[in-house]
Amino acid sequence: MPFPKLRIGRNDPCPCGSGLKYKKCCLGKPPDQIVDVRELYFQRYRIRLKKPEEIEGIRTAGRLAIETLDRVEALIRPGLATEEIDRFVAELTASHGGVCAPLNYEGFPKSVCVSINEVICHGIPSSRRLQEGDIVNVDVTPILNGFYADASKTFFVGQPGPQATTIVRVARRCLSLGVQQVRPGATTGDIGWAIQSYAEQQGCSVVRDFVGHGVGLDFHEPPQIPHYGRKGQGLTLVAGMVFTIEPMINLGTYELKVLDDGWTAVTMDGSLSAQFEQTVLVTPSGYEILTPFD
Ligand code: MF3
Ligand code: CO
Ligand code: CO
Repeated sequence: MPFPKLRIGRNDPCPCGSGLKYKKCCLGKPPDQIVDVRELYFQRYRIRLKKPEEIEGIRTAGRLAIETLDRVEALIRPGLATEEIDRFVAELTASHGGVCAPLNYEGFPKSVCVSINEVICHGIPSSRRLQEGDIVNVDVTPILNGFYADASKTFFVGQPGPQATTIVRVARRCLSLGVQQVRPGATTGDIGWAIQSYAEQQGCSVVRDFVGHGVGLDFHEPPQIPHYGRKGQGLTLVAGMVFTIEPMINLGTYELKVLDDGWTAVTMDGSLSAQFEQTVLVTPSGYEILTPFD
C-alpha cells in the first residue's frame, strides 16, 4: 500500500497520480490492484516519470539554459554571425561543466540551433550575419551531470517590422497558453488545442511536422507533444512527467520543406516563423517550468 497514512478526500486527486478523483481510482481497491503509475506509464508508453533528485538535476540544467539564452540575447545585434552565437554557447556551456546536446546529435554539426526569419527550426550556425529587422530563434539544450534541459526564444535584431512583431507576440503567447493547460488529468490534446485555437484565431498557423517531447534523462524521450489537437484527446498527463512545449508558429502556411543540408526547416511560402520553448514538469497541483523565463 503506497499511501495508507494520508487522509485523502473522495473527490481529491488520487495520490497514485492518475489524474482521476480518488473515489474513481484507487479508493477501496485491494492493494494488488492499486495502479503503480510509474510502472504503467513505462510499460505502456516508455515514459519515465522523474524522481525528485532527477527533477533537481533537470532544474539545474534549466537554469544554465536560461542563463545562456539571457547572455545570448545581450549579444544580438546586426552584423553578428550565427557561428559566433554557436561559439559563445559552446564555451559558456563548457565553462559550467556542461555539454551541448545538439553537437553531433544525429549528425547535427553545431552546438546550438539558430533559425532566422522563415527558418522554422534546426538552423545551422554559419558565417551568415544577422541583419536589422530579422527575427532569430536560438535553441539551447545543455546536458549537466547527465540531465537535459531544452529551451529556446526568438529575439528581434534591431527594430522589428509589423510582421515580426506579430509573429513573435503570437508564438510567445502560444507557449504560455499551452503551459497553462498542464496539470495531472489534462491531456496532450488540451495543450495542442489551446495553442492551435489561439494561433489560428490570430491568423497564424501551427507547424505539424515537429512536436514537443519528453526530456530530462535524454534529449528526446516519449511522449510527443503536438502543438495542435482537440480538447480531451491524446495522452493523460500525470505528475512526474517532464516534457517540452515548443510551438512553431508561421505567418502563412504551416507547410515546410527541409533544405539540402538535411536540417534547416523553412516555411514553404517563405513567411516568417517564430518559436519559444520551455521544459515543463507536471506537479501534483499543476506545473513547474524548469527553464523559467518571463
Ligand atoms: N532543440 C531541438 C528541440 O527543441 C532539437 C534540435 S536537434 C538538433 O527539440 F540536432 F538540431 F540539435
Ligand atoms: Co525540444
Ligand atoms: Co530545443
